[in-house]
Amino acid sequence: MDVKLLSGALGAEISGISLKDINKEIFNTVNELLLEHKVIFFRDQNITPEEQIRLAKFFGPIEEHAYVKGRDGYPEITRLIKGADEKNQWGEGWHSDVSFNIRPTKAVILKSIKIPPVGGDTVFSNMELAWETLHDSIKEKILNKSARHYSLGADSFIENFKHFESNGNNPKEYYNEHPIVRTHPDTGKKILYVNWMYTKTIVGMPKEESAYTLNKLFEHQSSLDFTCRFSWTENAVAIWDNRSVIHYAIADFFPGRGMGHERIMDRVAILGDEPY
Ligand SMILES: [Fe+2]
Repeated sequence: MDVKLLSGALGAEISGISLKDINKEIFNTVNELLLEHKVIFFRDQNITPEEQIRLAKFFGPIEEHAYVKGRDGYPEITRLIKGADEKNQWGEGWHSDVSFNIRPTKAVILKSIKIPPVGGDTVFSNMELAWETLHDSIKEKILNKSARHYSLGADSFIENFKHFESNGNNPKEYYNEHPIVRTHPDTGKKILYVNWMYTKTIVGMPKEESAYTLNKLFEHQSSLDFTCRFSWTENAVAIWDNRSVIHYAIADFFPGRGMGHERIMDRVAILGDEPY
């Protein structure tokens, strides 16, 4: 096994492990690597949909997406298709997946099916580092406070994306409240748990102060010093710890740039715990 760090902040590319052959022992190694690096990448993993689902189940129960329908025959898999003529890409902007749910996603296993010749990288940012490096005055201000995470409603997941369909769940917007500083259930580390896309207000704080504080946190958490960037190839697999990272899908391969490329990914998500 070889582990190549992607940056000094987080992320590692792992070689010498076949995810096709996953068993309890290999899973333990993969899980340790995930907890250490927060996002791990594997190239040339020609796994079937069944094998991707099997791998996911080692981490825990599979999560159904809040709004988006799964693949035909594989309801556990959400196929993310950005058409060649589309400008928008699912996952643009900093976020942690479905942080608006009572039990947000624990981890995601994303497999690339079709990748543009250039563009479409994904960037991840380390939220333990974001917490550690916050100024003491703002740490004091947000510790023991909660924030509201809004789901934005089904349209924001489906409307702008030609190939996405509703799974029939209630399309209305809803929200849940989570501690701004959560504790990782496996490592005990503190994590800055807000994100630009879904976190809208701090509970019990005047409106203007809440907006100001959140903007400061969003600015801080997206600092390039906390990030790594993965350039996809086909048949690559990314596994990220959705509790301790935020991520951003870069949409730089759309027709307006003279680069109308299709991109296809298969996503399986694992249900997480209630943040505390
Ligand atoms: Fe995402």
